[in-house]
Amino acid sequence: MNDLPYYCKLALHPRQMTLLVLFLVFVIEAAIMLALPARLSETIGPLGVAATDSFLLTVLLVPCLWWVIVKPLRRIADCRQHLLDWALSGEERKARQLARDLHDGIGQIAAAMNIGLASIEANSTEPGIIEQAGKLREVGRQLHESIRTLARGLRPSVLDDIGLGPAISHYTQETAAAFAIPITTNASDLDKVRLPEAIETAVFRVVQEAVSNAVRHAHPQRIDLDILLTDHNIELSVSDDGCGFEPEDILDCRSQDKPFGLISIRERVHLLGGTALLTSRRGRGTQISASIPLLSKPLPHA
Ligand SMILES: Nc1ncnc2c1ncn2[C@@H]1O[C@H](COP(=O)(O)OP(=O)(O)OP(=O)(O)O)[C@@H](O)[C@H]1O
Ligand SMILES: [Mg+2]
Repeated sequence: MNDLPYYCKLALHPRQMTLLVLFLVFVIEAAIMLALPARLSETIGPLGVAATDSFLLTVLLVPCLWWVIVKPLRRIADCRQHLLDWALSGEERKARQLARDLHDGIGQIAAAMNIGLASIEANSTEPGIIEQAGKLREVGRQLHESIRTLARGLRPSVLDDIGLGPAISHYTQETAAAFAIPITTNASDLDKVRLPEAIETAVFRVVQEAVSNAVRHAHPQRIDLDILLTDHNIELSVSDDGCGFEPEDILDCRSQDKPFGLISIRERVHLLGGTALLTSRRGRGTQISASIPLLSKPLPHA
């Protein structure tokens, strides 16, 4: 596991910070009052004294507050960003490792088993054994296929191959054709850029889950997918005009085996510091929208 960034420790607890600020205000104000000549009010009047006092207090407090509040808050924001990067790169690495282990380990064992069964099938003279080996080879082929699908699913290789925009268009076209539901896709902002890996994976997974939910549960006439890049965020929305549902019934349910898809959308987006919103009513369709901050400027697509 990576080490945490060394500066992810707060110098002061918020309560200590508040006490320090109060102490500073007290000391600075007392110093100003002592420094101002006692007879000043006779020359510039009480209003002038109040204005001078406020002016000096503000001027002296600004650097102190910058040091005591603004600097530590900046540090917290930087730290949060580093923690996110750290956690996400760890997750991504684990997923890749798992995908490799699945593919190269269990996948190879399944492949070897199939070769063995094929050899039994070819060399045996017993019709019963040939038939059994043939059936087992089919089961083995399905097992191997499932392992490969699982390994691919952990990090959609299509993202590395063609990039996020084309991968999403490809996915929606295939889904629309397979289920005979029109899916309008507006994701042209993504065509010529590459985003950080963690964001691409999350956006692709969120789109996949939201579209597959619409197809499986909503019986819609159409599905609309919009993805926009702004200066600081990637905004996505998947909406359908299907049967809709009451989100509270699903998300508040306490059952052990509560559905995973919607919760996973929310968690993926929150992990990246973004916000996700689900709007649905029975008979009124469903919309899932998410806004994810771009951790760095998009790079041009190679
Ligand atoms: N677009 C939609 N239209 C209608 N109902 C929906 C829609 N999306 C989700 N739902 C309802 O919310 C439930 C929870 O969805 P969720 O994606 O969390 O789980 P799931 O799709 O049932 O299972 P999985 O864990 O495979 O995703 C669904 O079972 C369905 O009843
Ligand atoms: Mg689902």
